[in-house]
Amino acid sequence: MVVFKVVRVETTPIDGQKPGTSGLRKKVKVFIQPHYLENFVQSTFNALTTEKVRGATLVVSGDGRYYSKEAIQIITKMAAANGVRRVWVGQNGLLSTPAVSAVIRERVGVDGSRASGAFILTASHNPGGPHEDFGIKYNMENGGPAPEGITDKIYENTKTIKEYFIAEDLPDVDISTTGVTSFGGPEGKFDVEVFDSASDYVKLMKSIFDFELIRKLISSPKFTFWSLCKTYFCGRAWCTRKLITELHSQDFGGGHPDPNLTYAKELVARMGLGKSNPQDEVPEFGAAADGDADRNMILGKRFFVTPSDSVAIIAANAVQAIPYFSAGLKGVARSMPTSAALDVVAKHLNLKFFEVPTGWKFFGNLMDAGLCSVCGEESFGTGSDHIREKDGIWAVLAWLSILAHKNKENFGGEKLVTVEDIVHQHWATYGRHYYTRYDYENVDAGAAKALMAYLVKLQSSLSEVNKIVKGVGSDVAKVVDADEFEYKDPVDGSISKHQGIRYLFEDGSRLVFRLSGTGSEGATIRLYIEQYEKDPSKTGRDSQEALAPLVEVALKLSKMQEFTGRSAPTVIT
Ligand code: G6P
Ligand code: ZN
Repeated sequence: MVVFKVVRVETTPIDGQKPGTSGLRKKVKVFIQPHYLENFVQSTFNALTTEKVRGATLVVSGDGRYYSKEAIQIITKMAAANGVRRVWVGQNGLLSTPAVSAVIRERVGVDGSRASGAFILTASHNPGGPHEDFGIKYNMENGGPAPEGITDKIYENTKTIKEYFIAEDLPDVDISTTGVTSFGGPEGKFDVEVFDSASDYVKLMKSIFDFELIRKLISSPKFTFWSLCKTYFCGRAWCTRKLITELHSQDFGGGHPDPNLTYAKELVARMGLGKSNPQDEVPEFGAAADGDADRNMILGKRFFVTPSDSVAIIAANAVQAIPYFSAGLKGVARSMPTSAALDVVAKHLNLKFFEVPTGWKFFGNLMDAGLCSVCGEESFGTGSDHIREKDGIWAVLAWLSILAHKNKENFGGEKLVTVEDIVHQHWATYGRHYYTRYDYENVDAGAAKALMAYLVKLQSSLSEVNKIVKGVGSDVAKVVDADEFEYKDPVDGSISKHQGIRYLFEDGSRLVFRLSGTGSEGATIRLYIEQYEKDPSKTGRDSQEALAPLVEVALKLSKMQEFTGRSAPTVIT
């Protein structure tokens, strides 16, 4: 057995290591600076305290982007030096974010051990490669992202750090082959266990969904499905070789791994959205996930399901269509900027309902307390209490389950109930929330701050606000309330302030302004626009057209162009 020594390395604080909404994300060139990763990892160990670190079993893996393999070796050596007992690594260092959450919660190691946390190496939906982003975040023993109490501590530690510990002479571990490698350290044994990346997650999915029913749907001659993940779906799924190759590259094939209408161009075109020939054969169902497979986008034939509608529709159908929920839902939750479509379902079905700030960690507390079963965010995140992360594959399986359930008497029949039919039926019952998000990416950080400060100030004078609204025209209702969203966690009582500025209109419409917490350069301003339409004869409009007057109000209210110099957003979803 190889015996390693612990080396104490002197270091000094490095600026800007504050974890964002989902961990620390920076350009690769920032991460590879001397001590950069090491400072952050040691600051995390110190924040967790030695009690939690010594003897622990930690998962270290990620989405396989550029610099992951090097980072896994560095973190493993630091874990060994900090007294961690075992490190678990998914084969080739690959584990999707939901799979990490499942592994923490469900997996039992070859020696009966269980994990108490994980370093997830991903920058999620941000591009990868030597000139793009890398990221790291820590997840806790419940499988969810570290709460603010911990991330704040990590950040404080990065500002005062003087030393880190590393087993420099520990040989690099072969992460391409499953099995356990044991080493000896000053405090005893240290093991690295490399395991199959998919099996724990697949087992969990099989305990949630009726795969037999989904198989029947997928094998129906009427059903074609286009996806990026061949491992999970076979039968009549369509996949290009190019996409499979991208899944195994360190930069997502040079593509942008954010599943939205702007960046998932190939899928969007394949599904007949945008410029397409009406004669083209278009699949019934299309789906995409992001780099670490926690986000998802659901498409029907020539039809886009907004993430806000998606979570509402899943909640409305869960009990009937998904065996895991057959006993009923404990409650539902959405993030503040997500549309109120879920609120209407919760009201109809008499379910507990929560509105939380942006960021999945807020759902985790509710789930741990047994208050929430299904939740979602406008930012293409949907999930449930089966884990403590959002889950792209789960969302796809949930939609396939709903489709299978609605078609179960009719698999061989004339016409299948489609994604579009399901959404239209939903709007007919609950009304429609027209919804769009405008993103202004990589805006000058000072300008973005100034715009937000201006809006905070403006919001305190409703008469001033309504003067601007009136100037736009008669189609827009009056603003009756405005505030900066603040959240008191009902479980632990913690308070999160400055979570976005809301303008609430008399007819239920909303405008929300927020700064993104996931960018790695400059600032991204997000503008969320929503309008509720109850009248079933008016729910079929084009959403950009229906929302145009509200968009105009938003741009005027915020002086968007004046502050940012931008005449148009970079992304519209
Ligand atoms: C990550 C989090 C989500 C959150 C999103 C917001 O994906 O996991 O929970 O909604 O970031 O991103 P933003 O860029 O708007 O802060
Ligand atoms: Zn992600």
